[in-house]
Amino acid sequence: MSFLPRMPDHPPLPRLPSSVLVVGSGGREHALIKSLALSVAQPRLLCAPGNAGIAADAECFPVAVENIAGLVALAQREKVAFVVVGPEVPLSLGLVNALTAAGIPAYGPKADGARLEASKVFTKQILLKYNIPTAPAGIFTEIQPALDYLKKRGAPIVIKADGLAAGKGVVVAQTPAEAEAAVHDMLAGNKFGSAGSQILIEDCLFGEETSLLVVVAGRDYVILPTSQDHKRIGEGDTGPNTGGMGTYSPAEVVTPALLAQIEGEIVKPSVDAIAAEGIDFRGTLFIGIMLTPSGPSVLEYNTRFGDPETQVVLPRLQTDLLALLWAATRGELAGFKLEVKPDYALCVVVAAQGYPDRYAKGDTIVLPQASGLTPHTFIYHAGTARNATGQLTANGGRVLGVTALALTLREAAARAYAACDQIQWANKYYRRDIGAKQLNRQS
Ligand code: AMP
Ligand code: GLY
Repeated sequence: MSFLPRMPDHPPLPRLPSSVLVVGSGGREHALIKSLALSVAQPRLLCAPGNAGIAADAECFPVAVENIAGLVALAQREKVAFVVVGPEVPLSLGLVNALTAAGIPAYGPKADGARLEASKVFTKQILLKYNIPTAPAGIFTEIQPALDYLKKRGAPIVIKADGLAAGKGVVVAQTPAEAEAAVHDMLAGNKFGSAGSQILIEDCLFGEETSLLVVVAGRDYVILPTSQDHKRIGEGDTGPNTGGMGTYSPAEVVTPALLAQIEGEIVKPSVDAIAAEGIDFRGTLFIGIMLTPSGPSVLEYNTRFGDPETQVVLPRLQTDLLALLWAATRGELAGFKLEVKPDYALCVVVAAQGYPDRYAKGDTIVLPQASGLTPHTFIYHAGTARNATGQLTANGGRVLGVTALALTLREAAARAYAACDQIQWANKYYRRDIGAKQLNRQS
């Protein structure tokens, strides 16, 4: 496999931490751990809470990601030298503030930076204030003005709950009736709890989407390889939005010229705007971008690595991931040189039948032996557990992420799907068309 550790070309390396606690339990965290394990520092790896697959690669501790005091206590008890925070919830609850106050370096923004993901209204206000391209939008707390605004704008139109809603707080309404129902659901119903007490109504943008992960330290940043997610549950991008059903990298729709435009119009202005707002952002700024016919436009910021973007971006890095995250945390990112492998990567998310609505938990899963997989193929665990007899079971909506690397995207897809087909699980579901848009452009 191509996960061999390799000395980066830019010595001298700072002293790297000897132990790392990764917070989270998904495919993203499994990918983080697999890549951190390749560091020249050979750190001791811990994870809270982790999952059945992560347990093979790190010591797992049953502390929930919302339990800020518990996580700080764990890091202290285990004398952890560095913490890498995966999901948005602990970030917005101030985990990095609490760890920093306890003298433990941690990768990820503090609560003020995490607000860029936790409040879509806050982000829209920043985008508009700093003239960063984004769809025009109205902000509402009351139903009637929202309905009046809908009448003016027509459909299709996009309704967004302000707060964190696990990727489900966005409705792309095709008709006025759908839009009105979404406004009622969010403002009157209790579907999103306090996350929906404010909404954005924004113009619908058309084009292809891309996910740009940027490692930020103040005004310095490193742009990671491009990728594209597949948000809808169904093939051909149909059905409801999910957390993400598959990814590939690089996203060649982002040509070098387009990437330069995105950096000039979006990345640098965003990083500068965040600093100008007085936020000392150290962590991942994940910019969701729509490539519209009139130019790239920001859909959202997330303040963490994407899932499943991480599962294709990290395996392509030649750079020592620990060195990168450590440099960002210490504010030493200026001049950091990223090295990327020539390989393409493609990840297929294997979900439980019924996701993103109702699905069963507890089904047993038999994975192919590593020796039975095609080369450069990795099965990341997302929602897995073990039952009383030690069998692997499905324990979530998105259960596995199968990533393969190869010198062509077509070969990466063939490898990933060969592994998906070998997974023995009666209720597995995955899209068959991950990467198809790019593959069809090539043929
Ligand atoms: P967000 O959480 O804001 O990224 O929205 C989730 C998904 O909804 C995005 O990935 C897009 O597919 C879609 N979406 C969000 N905003 C818009 C928009 N203004 N126009 C079209 N689609 C959008
Ligand atoms: N894959 C989209 C996200 O992580 O939000």
